[in-house]
Amino acid sequence: MRIRAAVLEQFGQPLAVQEVDLDEPRAGEVLVRLVACGVCHTDLYTASGADPSGYAPAVLGHEGAGVVERVGADVTSLTPGDHVVTLFSPQCGECVHCLDPRTNLCLAIREQQNKGFLPDGTTRIRRGEDEVRHFMGCSTFAEYTVMPEIALAKVNPEAPFEHVCLFACGLSTGLGAAINTAAVTAGSTCAVFGAGMVGLGAVAGCRLQGAERIVCVDLSPERLELARGQGATDLIAGGEGAVAEILELTGGFGADYTFEATGNVAVMRQAVEAARMAWGLCTVAGVAGRGETLDVVPRLLITGRRIAGSSFGGVKGRDQVPVLVERALAGEIDVGPFISHRLALDEVNRGFELMEAQDGIRSVIEF
Ligand SMILES: NC(=O)c1ccc[n+]([C@@H]2O[C@H](COP(=O)([O-])OP(=O)(O)OC[C@H]3O[C@@H](n4cnc5c(N)ncnc54)[C@H](O)[C@@H]3O)[C@@H](O)[C@H]2O)c1
Ligand SMILES: [Zn+2]
Ligand SMILES: [Zn+2]
Repeated sequence: MRIRAAVLEQFGQPLAVQEVDLDEPRAGEVLVRLVACGVCHTDLYTASGADPSGYAPAVLGHEGAGVVERVGADVTSLTPGDHVVTLFSPQCGECVHCLDPRTNLCLAIREQQNKGFLPDGTTRIRRGEDEVRHFMGCSTFAEYTVMPEIALAKVNPEAPFEHVCLFACGLSTGLGAAINTAAVTAGSTCAVFGAGMVGLGAVAGCRLQGAERIVCVDLSPERLELARGQGATDLIAGGEGAVAEILELTGGFGADYTFEATGNVAVMRQAVEAARMAWGLCTVAGVAGRGETLDVVPRLLITGRRIAGSSFGGVKGRDQVPVLVERALAGEIDVGPFISHRLALDEVNRGFELMEAQDGIRSVIEF
């Protein structure tokens, strides 16, 4: 079929929205009609050429929500009409990692996905004879996409698509960092560095876990106000003095749980330093620049602080994204304030501009 999609032709150039060919789903694959898709930093990171593993031409986008249109052979868990969230982090349910509760890093299709192919090593997107690659296994800046069944989470159809799509990446990452990776305990003190989509999700996750005090640190007063809306109890301006302020707020000890959601390695270091001696756990969610390293004084670790990294919030997508969506429907997660702009697919580059200008938390493309 012919569909419209936003193609990354050349790094550093605007995406080109155009018609491409989309082939029918093969065995184990599903054709999805996209309804909403968030514009995330990772799309821009790849489009800019900063991502060393990027490839082109490719259809970008990975924060998608839509409706199952058709299924290929052997697809058993989805049928046409199902509402789904796209998962750049799939869940095959059978690999050694899927079977282990400690991780969400499914091994089933990693290699091909990282190269821009579906699991059988080919693409469904073409321009005539020329293949166009899939991005993060999703390619959701498009009217339709073909994805593996194991990379789609079936969610409650009552949830609005523009809310649901945020669970495909940033929001689940933040919520999961608090709920899964850190497993914040009730009554604890938390500090979240960064109040973008991921940091705000972490604030909400800490609140859902019953944290008593949630300190949020950001450079933007507007974003700190959004953090208050998600449950932050104390707001701190980011910068040199942030760690000292957190120590002061916590009787000189630091927070039981800290979270980094900025992608800045200097802030990651602050998040380690703001964790409590004896048992403070620092969870790093931000993606650092190429070649950057985290500089930490080892004494901080000897005296009981720990550091964990978190990909997609440790969320096993097919099992847990539907549960998070239910919690939003039940009123436990206030998704509305995260959506700042609604765009048409043709305005996708405007979404990147808004992100660079830090205008709002998320622009959502509506199809
Ligand atoms: N681990 C994962 O699976 C995963 C998934 C999605 C995104 N990410 C990463 O998470 C990070 C955050 O993503 P986002 O969408 O929320 O980004 P964002 O840019 O919207 O938010 C980052 C926030 O950090 C704040 N900030 C910058 N410098 C600061 C400082 N010195 N102190 C305190 N706050 C500061 C900014 O003001 C901004 O509000 C990015 O690095 C992104 O690539 C990781
Ligand atoms: Zn993302
Ligand atoms: Zn797996």
